[in-house]
Amino acid sequence: MAKTEKAIEALLKEGRTFSPSKKFRDNAHVQDEALYRKAKRNREKLWEDFAKELDWFKKWRKVLTWKVPDAKWFTGGKLNVSYNCLDRHIETARKNKAAIIWVGEFGESITLTYWELYREVNKFANVLKNLGVKKGDRVTIYLPMIPELAIAMLACARIGAPHSIVFGGFSPDSLRDRIRDCKAKVLITSDGGYRRGKVIPLKKNADEALKKTPSIKKVVVVNRVGDKEKVRMKRGRDLWWHKLMEDTSPYCAPERMDSEDMLFILYTSGTTGKPKGIVHTTGGYMVGAYATTKLVFDLKEEDTYWCTADIGWVTGHSYIVYGPLANGATSIMYEGAPDYPDIGRFWAIVEKYAVNIFYTAPTAIRAFMKWGEEHPKKYDLSSLRLLGSVGEPINPEAWMWYHTHIGGKKCPIVDTWWQTETGSILITALPGLTKLKPGSTTIPFPGIEADVVDEAGKSVKVGAGYLVINSPWPSMLRGIYGDRRRYVDTYWSKYPGIYFTGDGAKRDKDGYIWVLGRVDDVMNVAGHRISTMEVESALVDHPAVVESAVVGKSHDLKGQAIVAFTTLKRDVKSSPKLLEELRAHVAKKIGAIARPDEIIFTADLPKTRSGKIMRRLLRNIAEGAVLGDTTTLADPSVVNQLREQHEHKEG
Ligand code: WT7
Repeated sequence: MAKTEKAIEALLKEGRTFSPSKKFRDNAHVQDEALYRKAKRNREKLWEDFAKELDWFKKWRKVLTWKVPDAKWFTGGKLNVSYNCLDRHIETARKNKAAIIWVGEFGESITLTYWELYREVNKFANVLKNLGVKKGDRVTIYLPMIPELAIAMLACARIGAPHSIVFGGFSPDSLRDRIRDCKAKVLITSDGGYRRGKVIPLKKNADEALKKTPSIKKVVVVNRVGDKEKVRMKRGRDLWWHKLMEDTSPYCAPERMDSEDMLFILYTSGTTGKPKGIVHTTGGYMVGAYATTKLVFDLKEEDTYWCTADIGWVTGHSYIVYGPLANGATSIMYEGAPDYPDIGRFWAIVEKYAVNIFYTAPTAIRAFMKWGEEHPKKYDLSSLRLLGSVGEPINPEAWMWYHTHIGGKKCPIVDTWWQTETGSILITALPGLTKLKPGSTTIPFPGIEADVVDEAGKSVKVGAGYLVINSPWPSMLRGIYGDRRRYVDTYWSKYPGIYFTGDGAKRDKDGYIWVLGRVDDVMNVAGHRISTMEVESALVDHPAVVESAVVGKSHDLKGQAIVAFTTLKRDVKSSPKLLEELRAHVAKKIGAIARPDEIIFTADLPKTRSGKIMRRLLRNIAEGAVLGDTTTLADPSVVNQLREQHEHKEG
């Protein structure tokens, strides 16, 4: 049995349960099952009532039109997301409330009140308009975690220009591909960004990408690192953010967006080498992000809320910016890493800002565990009342550590399952109500019909299968940008009319869901989604490599580690130096997050008679597991060699 399967077995024996304290429940937004009952009676009414809590310029005619696989939510409704995140609060006592508290890597901070953020967003919206950006034009944003990132996205939303945010850790090639795919007109970047005290040369990366992106007409550059990074500004194309903002008028009327107008594109990895541009629209996304932020995090007016994600991922879109701001909350945005300048950094921030709600990833929790509980102990974490987890399955051990050493045994933990595609959280506890089981993402959010099904699509009441969603929800993706076929094939073909998540899951006798991980060729490395094919293409791009097969292997800290079985050209000799060179090559081609943890050189790759690489076998080899039946192999000796080599290396 593979290591992962053993871990899963152990997980399912987990018998501990945790209920919210009476105090927590008595103050929670959701204290009873009424919402679940309401959803059962009339799902559309449930979502419609959430939609009514937002501001619409014009009300919808119809809540849902569902023609598989196309959903339209709140048809005929007109609204603007930046209006919902800003304008509607400045009319109230929230005007001077902190919207974003930004904390820099050096510990410096900037607080933007709703009014201040509103002004900045309006001004930058005018900047974009002056640069010729019109409703529907795509804008790519390649920025570090600085306030301008949130300002830029809200400004795009204000004028109806879909943004495509590219994580600042991605390489020039990755940026180029993402710009080319959506034909963005404007790129917003910065001279550089800080990462653990070092400067990441974003503008230089962008210049590299821009050599092959003819659609980009203007580049706006934020000055973040000043003279620490020399930038070359191309005349007529590159413009400084601060110069553009100088004499721009401070009011820009929000565009009246149709509920189904595109709000953003966000690229994520799929099973092929090419990332998918996930499309989200305005009304449904806003309703999903708003309602889940409010209820899953039990968000109250006085809360200080902190999601530690990067805005370059969907978690940051929905749960640093759009969800919290639509709720009028105070959202902390942190520029840096959890271990810089020291490993107490997160807890120092929790203490300094008296954070009440804290949302992070299991990979970070496992790192904190390894560093030791003495670090959080040095800080006053008593302000915390709710914890969240996202991005990958959380093992019960990490859950218990989080509960004990961060939550002081008093904070419920919401383990939230969702995806870039789902736009907002779909499976989660409601913290004032749901009994928690460490390691389980618990039950579907009201109105979400999640199911676990077998290969034939039959519902598995208790046991393992594929995680699917049986009916549409407002914040679901509306497609893959420019690739209808892939949208249909990826999500709607395995079970007609049913959304296929790509995850395996187990349901227990109480109906609780335990996500087991991806069932496709997608890896989850430290909460980042990486396709095996992307890494393979990056490897074969190196002149020494003939062929490569990449698999994920379970890893104590990162969840999964990347293992690449690689065949070199006949005249190339393997060496530790070459191994490092190949790892660096992948980091350069894709980004550091995709750097393989292990490269195993092999004379050949195990293939079936029809020539397909036997990935399952490679996964077993990578896990160090006992080999199964190899009779379908064209040359079984290959596998034995591979295995021996691997065991030798591990030994
Ligand atoms: C994949 C989606 C959703 C924001 C971050 C990742 C895995 C996500 C959980 C969880 C177990 C989880 C799934 C999913 N995943 N949350 N709570 N428990 N697995 O977004 O990059 O689109 O990745 O992350 O495998 O399919 P993403």
